[in-house]
Amino acid sequence: MLFADNTYFYYKFPEPQYLGAKYIWLPWINRFIPKNIRTAFDGFAGSQSVAYLFKQNGFKTITNDFLNFNHQIGLSLIENNNFTLSKEELEFIFSNENINKNNSSLFKNVFSNVFFDEEQAIFLDKVRANIDLLDNQYKKALAFTLVNRSLTRKVTMGHFAHNQAINYANNPERIKRNPNLARHVKDIISDIFVLYNNAIFNNEQDNKSYNENVLELLPKLDNIDLAYYDPPYCDSHADYQSFYHLLETFVEYWSDKEFINTTRRYEPKRYSGFDKKQLIIDSLNQLFALSKDIPNWLISWNNRSYPKVKELEKILKQYKDVSIETQTYLNGRGGKGSVAGSREVLFVCKNKLSINIGL
Ligand SMILES: C[S@@+](CC[C@H](N)C(=O)[O-])C[C@H]1O[C@@H](n2cnc3c(N)ncnc32)[C@H](O)[C@@H]1O
Repeated sequence: MLFADNTYFYYKFPEPQYLGAKYIWLPWINRFIPKNIRTAFDGFAGSQSVAYLFKQNGFKTITNDFLNFNHQIGLSLIENNNFTLSKEELEFIFSNENINKNNSSLFKNVFSNVFFDEEQAIFLDKVRANIDLLDNQYKKALAFTLVNRSLTRKVTMGHFAHNQAINYANNPERIKRNPNLARHVKDIISDIFVLYNNAIFNNEQDNKSYNENVLELLPKLDNIDLAYYDPPYCDSHADYQSFYHLLETFVEYWSDKEFINTTRRYEPKRYSGFDKKQLIIDSLNQLFALSKDIPNWLISWNNRSYPKVKELEKILKQYKDVSIETQTYLNGRGGKGSVAGSREVLFVCKNKLSINIGL
């Protein structure tokens, strides 16, 4: 038995395809969650895999990511306790009913023949317009989640920082290895929709998803028992907006950005503070100072990222008692794009023991 015998663990988090996702490490991370947690916070939630683990544990789960497409996953799978999409609603999202009312063609204009052909770009414009007409924010969020997950399945390597998607979608060898490359995005959405509906459950808590810079959100939160931080690992694939710009553009449907380079990434980007070497130490110090009243922290790191494990340990020890757990990536790519053989690190941090000597 990998997890505690809790009914919420019968629900299954749909496998993500996201750089640095902790999906494969969830049973390991679960071992270091302290007892008696009521409210847990995932500050850099990404695919929401760890937030989902918190929800499964029955905690009131507060989740956050500064990218809106990740927040939509948080709304649909973490904050949402009840709403699913019916087959009829899925058909509505695919329908042509509103096509003339919709004069937006952002995807047709910007992305035709970049990651998919013009017909699918037009299809995505239509779907985007129909999602806006759904009358419930969780259903909308679930629809965004389904489309975005399907797009990562459709595109080689599951990200949008390269221009090989169309080539590979026409390469029989590649298609043999991954048939999704040549499939219509509509068919992929139809395939995965049951998986996502089945992942929605009610853990009887008032869970919440946010879409903020974690440093701005933290001062507004209180009564958190456990914080989990998995920031981008500097020096190793930290620029999430270059990898996943297409998904953010699908949700935001920007009207105030430029689309640059051959991948048509939006510009300017959002400010992270955790993705550049010259900013990271200051941002980590702010993060820990703002979290000092949270008694338990779990922090994911990789032994190849910056700052090095020893240096981060030194910073953390100013605030907490710290122990370090590690796992080695045996095959494939390590977390955050690093190669096999790198180590996944978990800092387990607890309040310092204050010894009162009664005199
Ligand atoms: C390593 S990923 C998290 C992966 C996640 N634990 C999972 O299992 O999928 C880091 C995340 O931090 C987010 N991020 C970067 N800067 C942020 C900031 N200042 N505030 C909140 N989120 C931020 C990125 O969008 C990215 O999703």
